[in-house]
Amino acid sequence: MTQYNTLGIDFGTSNSAAGIAVNGKPYLVEIEAGEKTLPTSIFFDFEARRAVFGTAANKALIEGLEGRFMRSLKSVLGTPLMRDIRPMMGERLSFIDIIARFLAEVKAKAEAACHTRFDAALSGRPVHFHSGDPAKDAQALVDLTECYMRAGFKEVSFMFEPEAAALAAASTGESDALNLIVDIGGGTSDFTVYRNGADGIDILASHGVRVGGTNFDRSISFDHVMGLLGKGSGIRNEMGAGVLAAPNALFHDLATWQMIPFLYTREVLRRVKNLEQMAVQPELFARLRGVLENQLGHDVSFTVERGKIAANRAVQNGARIDLGIVAPGLAVDLSKEMLSQSLQPHMADIHRGVLETLKLAERRPEQIGTVVFVGGSSLMGDVEHLLAEIFPAAQLQYTDAFTAVVDGLALAASR
Ligand SMILES: Nc1ncnc2c1ncn2[C@@H]1O[C@H](COP(=O)(O)OP(=O)(O)OP(=O)(O)O)[C@@H](O)[C@H]1O
Ligand SMILES: [Mg+2]
Repeated sequence: MTQYNTLGIDFGTSNSAAGIAVNGKPYLVEIEAGEKTLPTSIFFDFEARRAVFGTAANKALIEGLEGRFMRSLKSVLGTPLMRDIRPMMGERLSFIDIIARFLAEVKAKAEAACHTRFDAALSGRPVHFHSGDPAKDAQALVDLTECYMRAGFKEVSFMFEPEAAALAAASTGESDALNLIVDIGGGTSDFTVYRNGADGIDILASHGVRVGGTNFDRSISFDHVMGLLGKGSGIRNEMGAGVLAAPNALFHDLATWQMIPFLYTREVLRRVKNLEQMAVQPELFARLRGVLENQLGHDVSFTVERGKIAANRAVQNGARIDLGIVAPGLAVDLSKEMLSQSLQPHMADIHRGVLETLKLAERRPEQIGTVVFVGGSSLMGDVEHLLAEIFPAAQLQYTDAFTAVVDGLALAASR
């Protein structure tokens, strides 16, 4: 069998990274100069007729360049949308192709930085891409494998993301104490119970649920922002008397990172114009029409995400979600209570996920000595409170939230 050089890749819902081990330590490639991670964002720049990735893609969106922006594509893996073919700058591309281009960029940058060709990838994967749907879950892995092959890798293998984080967090020396990795990312929450063993880590159980920061963003947007664009407001009956609430599905999609590109069609715009005509408050639907016509869906989501992080950080009052891009002066206050209220169903899912992990490990909460937080969304206060409540006696440890998974993959890639 050919021995390929292997690149460790954390393809995240929100952020990605790549690395290898050098002298037994993780070395992360600067895919973007000076940065160890890059946003998992892609922008097809219609004028320059090229795709840009990461921070450059986010910047192109914010500057309002003409083109098509995509983020959270990992959440589409396993769904039929992956294989829909659509025209893009003179080509016909599926999301498999689009993710492949992102991975090919990571591969090329890593090869240039390491002066090495990487024909194999060791990729992270959530324990479950989809909760409670084994067929979709399996399909997601098929899809992601295909993305790596199309990106030019000859071989790809996978490692559970929280197990990679456990590898990176492992301290030397045998110990009876049990640790729990809690990796709350953009798309999934993943857990591993492990102990430090004589030669490496002993994994007792891993488990995960499909909930992460992008779900937090969606709930905040749906609960507190979409009302400004017509959600829940009255639509007069076309046939006679009576008023019905506007259909929720559209607002649900507009609040969902990965669904936004699917709303920029003539058909959706026509539906919104119809709603505007029949609306009790047509000015709200005029705003919605403006968001679609000017393709501002992602800009709204970025604002919501920033509001979430600011409200979480705020000592007391919360933060303001500034929607000036939608209409001059438009804004919503997001108090800590509003934030917690929107996060509540997700905290319940994470709670169930943790308890299920303990069950799989056949351990009780008091047997966990240390809870190790990984992933950007583990920085949410509500996540910390929840884990402190489940494990009142455990130490809570924060590692490198954004790089623990790729550090572990880098170490494992070179074995
Ligand atoms: N300071 C912060 N406080 C709270 N949340 C944050 C903070 N910084 C980033 N986030 C959130 O963390 C998420 C991204 O985290 P991370 O980069 O770990 O995810 P990912 O690895 O891309 O996703 P996944 O592992 O689920 O595929 C986003 O939803 C982002 O809004
Ligand atoms: Mg992650």
